[in-house]
This record gives sequence, structure tokens and C-alpha cells, in this order.
Amino acid sequence: MGETRPTEGLVSDQNLPILPGRPKELEGPEKAMLKLSYGVHVIGSRSAAGELNAMLADWVMQVSFTPRLVAVAIENDARTLRFARETRVLSVNLLHEKDGKEIARHVVMPAEGKKIKGRSDEAAAVVHDKLAGIPFGLHDNGCPVLDAALGWFTCDVEELHVAGDHTLVIGRVTDGDVLRPGEMLIERELGWEYAG
Ligand SMILES: Cc1cc2nc3c(=O)[nH]c(=O)nc-3n(C[C@H](O)[C@H](O)[C@H](O)COP(=O)(O)O)c2cc1C
Repeated sequence: MGETRPTEGLVSDQNLPILPGRPKELEGPEKAMLKLSYGVHVIGSRSAAGELNAMLADWVMQVSFTPRLVAVAIENDARTLRFARETRVLSVNLLHEKDGKEIARHVVMPAEGKKIKGRSDEAAAVVHDKLAGIPFGLHDNGCPVLDAALGWFTCDVEELHVAGDHTLVIGRVTDGDVLRPGEMLIERELGWEYAG
């Protein structure tokens, strides 16, 4: 008790913009959850109409060797989840410890203005192209693979399980590679938290 942080699971260090939220008391379970360690990823997706999206995500893990499966927990109202339901494919880009923060800054906000509470009708109608200015190529599955990623993999969506305010997307890994030497950017270094 006695510790405070902004609400909505998001805090910032001095190098990143402050995200909305009011200080609040942290409870024991929340403090413990905040000690969990995560890598920082960008989930690439595309819609049936060919629109692309990129989403910042911590909650990615391997869950099976054979077949090689991963689980990604995605907010129920995310554009990325809608695209994954439509096309059943995703890419997972691992951000690099050296310059991943800059990419995280570009992709942290929701693509759709309407996802942020309290926006005017005009602002709510805006769809933000988070990939603008970020060099990327398209994998054969149509999803973006970032040039500056440490590594990446693609997956076919096998199962979707609603889990509270997120949906667990179980993906079968179909391809992947490492592009650069070095290690992944981890959440602790990023300076924003997504847990509690
Ligand atoms: C550090 C950090 C980690 C995040 N991790 C996740 C995550 O694992 N799953 C998720 O659904 N949203 C996560 N988010 C929030 C999404 O990036 C955000 O809601 C996103 O804009 C939704 O994207 P979309 O609506 O454009 O698809 C995270 C945010 C931050 C700041």
C-alpha cells in the first residue's frame, strides 16, 4: 500500500508521452502483477479489405511446441482483433532494445479515435495510420513485418477465446526469422506498464 500510479494500466517515464490516467492506490495483487516481465511486440494485421494495422502488445507467449502455437491477448474492442477475426492471420514483430521505443511511440494509440472515451464525433471518426513513417514490408500472408524489428513471426489464427476484457488469440506459427543481432526491448525498459 502507499504506492500510486496512473489508472488504466499505463505509466510513462520521461522519454515517452504521458498517457491519460489519475493516480490511485495499488492493491497487493495489482502490485504483484506489475512485477511480471514482458517483451514488447508490435502485432501486424490486415482486414479483408486490405487495410493494415499495427498494435503495441506485451501479452504474447509461446504455448505449445508441437504444433508451435502462441497466445496473444487482445482487447475486445481493438481494430487488430476485428482484423484477426476477418482474415485469420497476424504478424508478431519483436521490438529491438536499441530503437524499439521510437516504434512503440508510433503505434501505442488505438487506430480508431472512437476507442478513446470522451472524443468529439469528429475525432472519434478518425482512423490513424500507425504504420505511416515506419519502414515495413508485407509478408506473403499480407501482414506487415517491420524493417527495424529484432525478429518476427507470422501465424494463422486457430482459436479465439474471450477472456474478460481481452480475447486470447491462439496462433499457429507459420514463418519467422531474426533480422538483427541483439535482444528484445522489455517493458521495464520501455517505461510504460500494461498489467495490474
Ligand atoms: C506497454 C503497452 C503494452 C500493451 N499491450 C497490449 C496487449 O498485450 N494487448 C492489447 O490488447 N493491448 C495492449 N496495449 C494497448 C494497445 O496497444 C492499444 O489499445 C492499441 O491501440 C489497440 O490497437 P488497435 O485498436 O489499433 O488494434 C498495450 C499498451 C501499452 C502501452
